[in-house]
Amino acid sequence: MQKGELVMSSDLNIQEKKAIIVKHGAVKEKLLNILLDIQFSSEKGYIDKETAALVADELGMTETRVFEVISYYAMLKDKPQAKYVLKICNSSPCYVTESDKLVALLEKELHVTANQATADGLFAFNCIPCPGACHMGPIIKIKDKVFGNMDEQKVLQLLHDLREGRISL
Ligand code: FES
Repeated sequence: MQKGELVMSSDLNIQEKKAIIVKHGAVKEKLLNILLDIQFSSEKGYIDKETAALVADELGMTETRVFEVISYYAMLKDKPQAKYVLKICNSSPCYVTESDKLVALLEKELHVTANQATADGLFAFNCIPCPGACHMGPIIKIKDKVFGNMDEQKVLQLLHDLREGRISL
């Protein structure tokens, strides 16, 4: 593990997904918040069929309705996204360390906006709520790793290293 990296938990299990549903009151009215929370907490970065079925079941609604909501909101995905999805924390402690500058840099460097994959399918980025590494802000999380104390130079180096396959995730 390199300095500045922190290993976070891997993809969500059923109990963790259920905990998110309960956190939002397990009510249909919170479906969008639940789906966003699960998607952005997940290593996969999308809502798979199994998860949609679980959410539908827990909220007492049909899977079809859950997928209607997923397809209505561009932020929600029902398919695997880019190979590397860079998740930038935009909660207050990271925001004050200028995480917005990292977002602007990624837009410029990758020629995409949030939640869009690059033409080569290698990168996408989006903003996430605090994953609990505030002491390292601003941070970028990719799969189960957190890269902390990021600045523009480090982001460029990170993109370069990922392209070259120098970072194992
Ligand atoms: S506020 Fe960004 S990791 Fe906690």
